This record gives sequence, C-alpha cells and structure tokens, in this order.
Amino acid sequence: MKGVILAGGLGTRLRPLTKVTNKHLLPIYDKPMIYYPIETLCKAGIRDIMIVTGGSSAGDFLRLLGNGAEFGLKDIFYTYQEGEGGIADALRLCEHFAEGSRIAVILGDNIIQDDISPFVRKFERQDSGARILLKHVDDPQRFGVPELDGDRIVRIDEKPAEPKSSYAVTGIYMYDRRVFDFIRKLKPSNRGELEITDVNNAYIREGDLFYDVLDGWWTDAGTFESLFHANQLVARSTISAAASAASSPR
Ligand code: G1P
Repeated sequence: MKGVILAGGLGTRLRPLTKVTNKHLLPIYDKPMIYYPIETLCKAGIRDIMIVTGGSSAGDFLRLLGNGAEFGLKDIFYTYQEGEGGIADALRLCEHFAEGSRIAVILGDNIIQDDISPFVRKFERQDSGARILLKHVDDPQRFGVPELDGDRIVRIDEKPAEPKSSYAVTGIYMYDRRVFDFIRKLKPSNRGELEITDVNNAYIREGDLFYDVLDGWWTDAGTFESLFHANQLVARSTISAAASAASSPR
C-alpha cells in the first residue's frame, strides 16, 4: 500500500502564523507538524509516500525532509497543488503515483496517538472499498460527522449544525483505486472545494465504506485552539514516555 500526506492549502484559519510559511511546517512541541503524519504512515509499514503541498513555501518541505532518511525512507515523492481546491482536489493529483494500488491518506495536520497498523491490516483484508477512522469528540460540528445505523455508516455530513452522532471522521482514509473515479464525478461544495466527505459518501452509496474507532487521542491542528491542544497532547506524551524510559531498568 502507498501513502499520501495532504499538506497543501493556505492555512487561512491560522493567519498570521501561516502568512509566510505552510501550516504543516509549524512546530508541534519538538518537531514540525509534517513529521507526525510521516511517522504515522512509517509505523504502519508504508514506505512509498507522496506529499502534496502548495502555497509559497513548498520548497521548504524538500529542504526539511529531503529524501526522508530521518524516517528510514529511501525517497519521498512530492507534488504541488495550485490554489485551494480542497482535500479531494489534492488527492486527485496522486492518481499516477498510486498506479492502481490502494492508498492510505492522512491529512498533514492530523496527529494521532494510536499506531494505525491494525486498521491498515484490516483494510488490506477487505475485498474492496474504503475504510475510515472515527473518534469520539465533544465538538462534532467542526468535522465530518457520521450518521450510524448499527455498525454501518449511512451518511456523513460535513460540519453539520446538528450532528447526527458525537463522532468525528478523522483525516485518515484508506481507499481502493475507485477513489479517483469518484473524485472525477465530484462537484464543488458551498465552500468551493471538492470535499473528501463527498468521496466517502460515494463509497457509502456503493455499500463499501467501513470504519474503526480510535481509542487513543487524536486531534487536528488547523485552528489556534486545536494547534495549541496538539502541542499539549504531544508534549505530555513525549515527556511521559521519556520519564518511563528513564525509570525502567536497563
Ligand atoms: C477536514 C474534513 C473533515 C474532517 C477533518 C479532520 O476538515 O473536511 O471531514 O473531519 O478534516 O481533520 P477541514 O479541517 O479541512 O475543515
């Protein structure tokens, strides 16, 4: 399976922090934000990674990451999204990279505690379709929100005023090759973007969208509040991991 990290966009909700740099290069505790989704994919055994970037600081990704040696990678692929066409528009640029294989997609500002390997393995055992990860949250109206019927998702609403559940659809998605056909059929939403939620709803209509629920913490980092929260979560777990490593017998 190949991996895609979506790290484009203009990060307007974080201005002026993003006036001269890309959101995904901002610090989360002791590392630039983009390190976390790369580590998430690498931990799941995904070695072929495409980063979709955009805006004026795209060259900084290459200066920062190079060929990914720091992550044990042989190389990293990069592509460039013009403008702000949305998540599905950014993903569209990866069709040639995917070469018909399945892909795991992660939004560059999604930071997660869990190892996603078990979910990736489950997706590999699926005959076809898509698999998404949900997380219970207090503020679902900020996210894509699933309406559940038993163990099936019947539809996903993007940032609904009246959420049908208290789950967020996290920015971690696994797709078979049909994802690019679904993207081709999308129409821009009210905010003028090709929405990943519409892609997921297309899989639901085919009866081919499955999900898991994350246990550990998860956050995005696209607003001042969530960026601050992400820093706190990562700082706490890094410091407590270091403390337990120091106190465990050698
Ligand atoms: C995007 C998706 C949304 C998802 C969220 C997760 O929202 O559109 O469905 O729940 O990422 O981070 P955005 O942050 O681009 O508004």
